[in-house]
Amino acid sequence: MAPTPTPADKFTFGLWTVGYNGADPFGGPTRAPLDVVHVAEKLAELGAYGLTLHDDDLFAFGSSDADRRKQIDRLIQAKADTGIQVPMITTNLFSAPVFKDGGFTSNDRAVRRFALRKVLRNLDLAAELGAHTFVMWGGREGTEYDSAKNVGAAIERYREAVNILTQYVTDKGYGIKFAIEPKPNEPRGDILLPTLGHAMAFIETLEHPELVGLNPEVGHEQMAGLNFTAGIAQALEAGKLFHIDLNGQRGIKYDQDLVFGHGDLHNAFSLVDLLENGGPNGGSAYDGPRHFDYKPSRTEDETGVWESAKANMRTYLLLKERAAAFRADPEVQEALAAARVAELSQPTLGEGETIDELLADQSAYEGFDSGAYFNGKGFGFVRLQQLATEHLMGAR
Ligand code: GCO
Ligand code: MN
Ligand code: MN
Repeated sequence: MAPTPTPADKFTFGLWTVGYNGADPFGGPTRAPLDVVHVAEKLAELGAYGLTLHDDDLFAFGSSDADRRKQIDRLIQAKADTGIQVPMITTNLFSAPVFKDGGFTSNDRAVRRFALRKVLRNLDLAAELGAHTFVMWGGREGTEYDSAKNVGAAIERYREAVNILTQYVTDKGYGIKFAIEPKPNEPRGDILLPTLGHAMAFIETLEHPELVGLNPEVGHEQMAGLNFTAGIAQALEAGKLFHIDLNGQRGIKYDQDLVFGHGDLHNAFSLVDLLENGGPNGGSAYDGPRHFDYKPSRTEDETGVWESAKANMRTYLLLKERAAAFRADPEVQEALAAARVAELSQPTLGEGETIDELLADQSAYEGFDSGAYFNGKGFGFVRLQQLATEHLMGAR
């Protein structure tokens, strides 16, 4: 029996996730839109910590100042009434037709200036709502045709935009950091900064790299055939996991946005184990929101929407329990030792050892029996993975 979610678990949901009306490129909506106040009330009732949103989720693109203000005030009141937090907000630079060739990297300079103004205005809203993380998903920043986009120039413009934004929050004294969300494709044929690795390299070229990290999404890395847990481990090691989008994806295809765990369950297990137990001394490696960016399937009615919201949290908590049991199992500890997993944390040279000393160490080369690895000296990784699988299945 998994524990019931509480705000201490820091589960958050995008307003656009539970609010998804089921429309897709092949057909119209299958559900009515949900009002933000109703969403805040339902999420609080289910034990979530927070709600996240794009500007256009709260007030339609092109809203008058008065309509915009009215919706913001309704959200602020809902926060006070329900205790729901808004730890992250983001800007929609993809739905309006004006962004069909991107926002920060549109070939049209006037569109780029408009996009910057939209984001700067939304940064003021982020500060007003108490959000500390500002996600940047550049779904339309990309191209279908190699001839149509100067990718080098596009990266320069992306850098220019992010530098302006980090300067703005610094000047204003907003305690806001940015999290870039990579995705390989969809809606563009090819999106700029397609994977976590591309984004990490880009961040190091910025004027304020310390203010910019990542918001990796399970499905996006898996759409590129990559191992999400391994990518998250590298982001953590670099101090760049500023936020995370949890969901499910089954292989290399369109962005499915399934419930967390409804895709690659093994990878979801190792991810939760990493987030919860992968820190120094076995503590949690990430203490930010566990943010679900999924889409309730088009087949569901509103009851199904809330069932799927619960499913995300329940699966996460079940995996957290399973990961703890895995770590505590003496047979697992013995298999981990046999697989020499901890030995990798030991530096390859001894403390203070020089290259000359390594060169002089006969046991490292001349006396080292590399042949022992043929037909012997296995690592036992498969046994370890089977133990993980059995814990995951509840068989141990
Ligand atoms: C997608 C993305 C988005 C972003 C969201 C917040 O593939 O549609 O995952 O859902 O996460 O726009 O930036
Ligand atoms: Mn997505
Ligand atoms: Mn996402």
